[in-house]
Amino acid sequence: MTLPVPDYITAIEPYVTGKPIEALEREYGIRDSIKLASNENPLGPSPKAVQALQNALQEIHRYPDGAGWRLTHRLAEHLGVAPEGIVLGNGSDEIIAMLARMCLQPGDEVILPRPSFLMYEICVRCAGSRPVFVDLKGLGMDLAEMGRRITRRTRLVFICNPNNPTGAMTPRKDFEAFMDDLPDGVVAAVDEAYFEFVRSPDYPDSIAQVKAGRPVVTLRTFSKAYGLAGLRIGYGVTTPEIAALLHRVRQPFNANLMAQIGACAALEDSEFLESTRRITHEGLDYLYGALDEIGVRYSPTQANFFLIDVGRDAGEVFEALLRKGVIVRSMAAYGYPTHIRVNAGKPRENERFIQALKAVLE
Ligand SMILES: Cc1ncc(COP(=O)(O)O)c(C=O)c1O
Repeated sequence: MTLPVPDYITAIEPYVTGKPIEALEREYGIRDSIKLASNENPLGPSPKAVQALQNALQEIHRYPDGAGWRLTHRLAEHLGVAPEGIVLGNGSDEIIAMLARMCLQPGDEVILPRPSFLMYEICVRCAGSRPVFVDLKGLGMDLAEMGRRITRRTRLVFICNPNNPTGAMTPRKDFEAFMDDLPDGVVAAVDEAYFEFVRSPDYPDSIAQVKAGRPVVTLRTFSKAYGLAGLRIGYGVTTPEIAALLHRVRQPFNANLMAQIGACAALEDSEFLESTRRITHEGLDYLYGALDEIGVRYSPTQANFFLIDVGRDAGEVFEALLRKGVIVRSMAAYGYPTHIRVNAGKPRENERFIQALKAVLE
């Protein structure tokens, strides 16, 4: 059978998600497993969001507000930007897809750091455009080289800060120099999915660039620090001009009713956000210390996850950890054949991971 599908779609490698706990337990016949693989919130969801969602259940026969008025206004107030510059998405994933739909035609070029979040490449390929990869320098983005690779065909540049999967942060000076040199006709997408976890004082302010009218779209999400990954809600912060174009390519009710309600409540839950930051940072510090003790190398992070060099085949270590009920991510497919990526969990989960890793490496 011949299907009417362009070659550039057939060639796409499907995105592989972290293994769900339920799938692991079903396949391996084990119980009480833990997942430190998808950079989720170890505390669960924001309690204020849960309460608001429970109260809202009787409303789900209604369509959501397609304009997301309440959430966009809350976010605008929170960030000090114009509400006309906020675009909601079914996760920040969807904003990435919307950007590709808005800007790209077959033959266009997009500058992508490598390795980084795989959805950039998938969305670029869906448009029949060409990803131009710029390898990381160490674990961080090489913005100078990314700037040099811009041509007349370049439409979009993705900056992931902190970068997934390395956890490295682009410092302010490098970001500002890159933005100063960004030629007219190119949009910078700055993915800040993990910005709430950053501890460095040198983190760049991409929203200041938006406020200055630069062609920037800052991507943020409620999936990580607010614990709402399953609800699917993220947003872009940009100029009203770019936002108006993004609205043209989105579905009318792309941010669902419960997601909008949950996100509004989570945004008010500063206590939960603080607890999330605390447990994440304490978790990371514990893990660093424990790895130092057992002599395993790792790369400190600005996000809620980090890379560990297990010094042997990462796929095998991943499998062995699975059998002990611990789900992490092998980084072999990202070009790090001896690394796994792990996010900070609850103290009990972190300890269990260290015990399991010790046993596997012995
Ligand atoms: C760098 C980065 N960007 C975006 C996303 C997508 O997040 P969501 O679609 O849940 O908002 C993720 C999720 O893992 C991510 O790591």
